Amino acid sequence: MENIRNFCIIAHIDHGKSTLADRLLEFTNTVTKREMQAQVLDNMDLERERGITIKSHAIQMNYVYKGKTYVLNLIDTPGHVDFSYEVSRSIAACEGVLLLVDASQGIQAQTISNLYLALEHDLEIIPVLNKIDLPGAMPEEVKDQMVDLVGCSRESIIPASGKDGTGVDKVLEAIVERIPAPKGDKTAPLQALIFDSVYNSFRGIEVIFRVLNGTIKKGDKVKFVATDTVYHADEIGILKLEKEPRTVIEAGDVGYLISGIKSAKEVKVGDTITSFDNPTKEAIVGFEDVKPMVFAGVYPVETSDYEDLREAIEKLQLNDASLVWEPETSAALGFGFRCGFLGMLHMEIIQERLEREFDQTVITTVPSVSFHAFDNKGEMHVVNAPSEMLDPSKLDRIEEPFIKAQIITKSEYIGAIMTLCMEKRGVLRNQVYLTTDRVEMIFEMPLSEMVFDFFDKLKTISKGYASLDYELIGYRESNMVKLDILLNGDKVDALSAIVHRDKAYEWGKKLCEKLKELLPRQQFEIAIQAAIGAKIISRETVKALRKDVLAKCYGGDISRKRKLLEKQKKGKKRMRQVGNVEIPQEAFMAVLKID
Ligand code: GTP
Repeated sequence: MENIRNFCIIAHIDHGKSTLADRLLEFTNTVTKREMQAQVLDNMDLERERGITIKSHAIQMNYVYKGKTYVLNLIDTPGHVDFSYEVSRSIAACEGVLLLVDASQGIQAQTISNLYLALEHDLEIIPVLNKIDLPGAMPEEVKDQMVDLVGCSRESIIPASGKDGTGVDKVLEAIVERIPAPKGDKTAPLQALIFDSVYNSFRGIEVIFRVLNGTIKKGDKVKFVATDTVYHADEIGILKLEKEPRTVIEAGDVGYLISGIKSAKEVKVGDTITSFDNPTKEAIVGFEDVKPMVFAGVYPVETSDYEDLREAIEKLQLNDASLVWEPETSAALGFGFRCGFLGMLHMEIIQERLEREFDQTVITTVPSVSFHAFDNKGEMHVVNAPSEMLDPSKLDRIEEPFIKAQIITKSEYIGAIMTLCMEKRGVLRNQVYLTTDRVEMIFEMPLSEMVFDFFDKLKTISKGYASLDYELIGYRESNMVKLDILLNGDKVDALSAIVHRDKAYEWGKKLCEKLKELLPRQQFEIAIQAAIGAKIISRETVKALRKDVLAKCYGGDISRKRKLLEKQKKGKKRMRQVGNVEIPQEAFMAVLKID
C-alpha cells in the first residue's frame, strides 16, 4: 500500500486537465507516443468533439522514482457543474489532487468549488500553474491568487504546460512525495467506493471502485449496499489503457468489476461494495441519489417513431442512470416522454446522442424545473411540466427550487452582473475581493431563472470574464403563474411555461413576438395569443402567404410534389404539425430566447 498514490486533477473547465493527463500517461509510458491520440481519456466521440470530459474514468500508471516503482491511480473528473456529484465522489476516492490553474485565466468559479470539495475530504493539494507556455500567461499574478486561495507557499506551486510538457516530471515527483499513501485495513470486511461506471453492451456495466478497506477476490459474492443487490465478481482487475484482469484487489487500490449487470440503475456512484458473507457495518458516507434538476418533454418528429424513440431512450438510460423518464401525452404533440436531466448541458448531450447513436430526431419542449404545488388541503404535488400544474381554484401556493450561485469576475463587471442577477430575481448575499480586481459574488436565485440562458448572458455581459458555479439550497415560495399560448384559438400545451407573475405580462408579449418570427407563414393567417387562465394578455398575427407565392412553391405535377414531400420526410426537419399549424423546434424553445 505504501507505494500507491491515488489522485485526481481538478480545474475549471478548459484549464487543461485532459491535456496534462495525456502528458502524465506519456511520461510514465502507460501509453506510447504512437497510441497517443489527443485526449485518450475522452474516448466517447461526443466528448472528443466537444472537448469536454463527460464521464470520469480511472487509469493506472507505474512510475519509477528513486529506484522504487510506484502505482499511480489517476481518477479523471468531469469539468461541468451538471456533473458535480461525480466530481465529489472521485475526490472521495483519492488522497491528493492536482489543482490546475490556467496561467492566463487565473482562478475561476470551479477552481474554488472543486478546491473546497478537496479540502472537505482533507486531501493533499498540489497547486499546478498550467499553460505557462501561453504568451498571455501571467504567472506571478496567478501565483499570488493561488497562494491566497490555497494558503500554500509560492515555492510549492509547480509551473507546467500540458502542451509542451514543461514541469510534467516535477508534477510526478510531487505526487509521490507529497500525497500520502492510502491507509486502510486489508483484513477488515470489504468496503469499496463506487465512483464511476462504464457501459459495455457486451459484458454489462463495468463498475469502477476504490477499495478503502478489505480485499476483493475474483469470484467473491459481493453486495451493493444502497441498491441492495448481490453479484458475483466474475471479473475484477485494474485499469490501464485497456482493462487488465487480476485475481485480487486490496485496500488502497482502484479497480473494476464486471458482473453482467445490465442496467445502470443498479450501479450508483457513491454506493458501497461489500462482501456478502462478511459485510461491513458501515456504508461509506456521502452517498446521494442524484436528482434531475431540469425536465423537458421529448417527442418524436414523426408520431409513428414513438416506439423507436422509447427503445432508444431505454437503451440510453442503461448507460446513463442520471437520465430519468416517463411517458407523457401532450394534446399538441401526442405521445412522448418527460425526461429529467442534471442540467442544460446534460439535456443537450442526451438530445445529441439520441440523434447520433440512435438516429432519432426529436422535438424537445421548454425545459422546466421541478415545482412543488400545494393544494387547498395542504397536500404537495410535484410538478415537472407546466401541464401538470394544479388548477388555480385548487392551488394554495407554489414553491420552487433556489440555488446559491457563485460568480467570479473582474471588478469592472460587478454592475452589469448585479443588474442581470436582479432581473433574474437574484439577491446578492456576499461579495468578496479575491485580489484587487477579482471579485467573488454570491447570489441566491431561483433555479428556473438559471435554466433560461443565464450562463450565456453572463458570459456576454462580462466579455467572457465571469465564471459560475451553483448548488441547490432548497425550496422557497414564489408567486408563479402558468402562461399558455394559443394558436388560432387552440391552446398548445407544449408551449406553456410557468413564470413569475411580475414578469408574466412582459413575457407573454415578447413570447408572442418571438413566435411570430419563428412560425413559418402558411396558407392561412395564424393568430398567436398568450393567456393566463382565461385572460388573453397578448396577441400577434402571422399573415397568410400570398396566392401567387404559393403557386410557385407548389406548382408542377403531383408526382414531383410527392417526391418533394418524401424527400422532406427523410430529412426529418425538426418540425411538428399541431392542428393545422407547423411549429419548428426553435419555437418550442422560444421562451429561452426572450430577453
Ligand atoms: P474539460 O475536460 O472540459 O474540463 O477541459 P480540460 O480542463 O480537460 O481542458 P483540455 O485539456 O481539453 O484543454 C483545453 C484547451 O486548452 C485545449 O484547446 C488544449 O489544447 C489547451 N491546452 C491545454 N493545456 C495547454 C497548455 O499547457 N498550453 C496551451 N497553450 N494550451 C493548452
